[in-house]
Amino acid sequence: MLNDSQKMRRDWDERALKNPKPTVCWVPNVNEMDWVQLLQTGEIEVQERIQPFLDRMGFDPADKAALEIGCGWGRMSHPLARRFGTVMALDVSPEMLKQARAIAAQESNLQFLPGNGIDLHEVGDGSIDFCCTVSVFLHIPSKSIIFSYIREIGRVLKSGGLCVIQFNAYERQAWLRRLHVSIRPSRKVPVLHRKIVVALEPGTWHGAKVKAQELETELIKNQIDVLDIRYEELGRFWIEARKK
Ligand SMILES: C[S@@+](CC[C@H](N)C(=O)[O-])C[C@H]1O[C@@H](n2cnc3c(N)ncnc32)[C@H](O)[C@@H]1O
Repeated sequence: MLNDSQKMRRDWDERALKNPKPTVCWVPNVNEMDWVQLLQTGEIEVQERIQPFLDRMGFDPADKAALEIGCGWGRMSHPLARRFGTVMALDVSPEMLKQARAIAAQESNLQFLPGNGIDLHEVGDGSIDFCCTVSVFLHIPSKSIIFSYIREIGRVLKSGGLCVIQFNAYERQAWLRRLHVSIRPSRKVPVLHRKIVVALEPGTWHGAKVKAQELETELIKNQIDVLDIRYEELGRFWIEARKK
């Protein structure tokens, strides 16, 4: 039987091979985009979500070390590499990393690395100035793995180091719960019912549901102060945090 790490690797390798574009990015018409346009969505995300945080913190990334957890095709990694001194971009899927290396020329300060999907054992204690993870934790099948990553972020960040974590605000996605509840009692739509129930069970796509409050508690436990939680209209949120 496969353990969680092996399951995540198998499933993400398979997704990368079958349907890579919607797998790494959920923007409309993603299949019509070429990879240059797709990577450009990462630049926009960095401009809108990460750069303003760095600016507010008076953080100059030029000579700093960044770590990205779950880099996929490198949508965020390339824009980070244009700003930071060095970028370590980690992913559980060797296939995703193979495609990331193949589609775009790699900056000399950017390193794509395979990880075990659970911890950051390849990264030294207190060696990182900035860590981010975008569209990754929401896919992780168990709360204990998400909390393992948070412990690890606390370990690898330098004192004063910054961190951005993007997640889904499940507590705000009331429509999902309504759909589930209104369809569940109906005997007339058993197939639809079964599909939706299966879709909502935690796996390597619809991951474990963790509330913003739980993430915040775990971050604080690991000496990371939550500075802000910024909600988006689609029920995603971005945690901005700093290691004590
Ligand atoms: C939806 S894609 C997002 C990729 C990238 N962050 C972006 O925004 O373009 C999710 C990525 O996370 C990776 N991933 C999933 N679970 C992971 C885990 N436990 N540890 C590291 N990477 C993981 C997948 O292989 C995939 O490349």
